[in-house]
Amino acid sequence: MSAKAEFFVAALDDLPPGERRILSARGKSIGVFNLGSRIVAVLNICPHALAPVCLGALGGTTLPSEPGEFIWGHENQILRCPWHGWEFDLKSGQCLTDRRRLKRYPVIIRDQAIYVEV
Ligand code: FES
Repeated sequence: MSAKAEFFVAALDDLPPGERRILSARGKSIGVFNLGSRIVAVLNICPHALAPVCLGALGGTTLPSEPGEFIWGHENQILRCPWHGWEFDLKSGQCLTDRRRLKRYPVIIRDQAIYVEV
């Protein structure tokens, strides 16, 4: 297996919170998301049936709560697959309703620019 390499994503100012970039690196499609509190990178393949998951909508989800309570949270952190609607927490890659998760890649911020390590 070859050594990892860094791939330029965008200038930090060009990827504001709530925005995403999809790039190709080493033949892989990778989605990079600015969640506001952090920037994350995931493989653009859904672990369910291989959809381009990074094209999905961003939203939130209900949080654990007492019976009868409805608490909404993680806004713009939950990625919804465009094919069958599976939802993934972008901070962990974990699917909200299944054991599978998105493959994640390290993100490097250097000199006001964003890189992903693949
Ligand atoms: S391919 Fe993503 S939910 Fe089915």
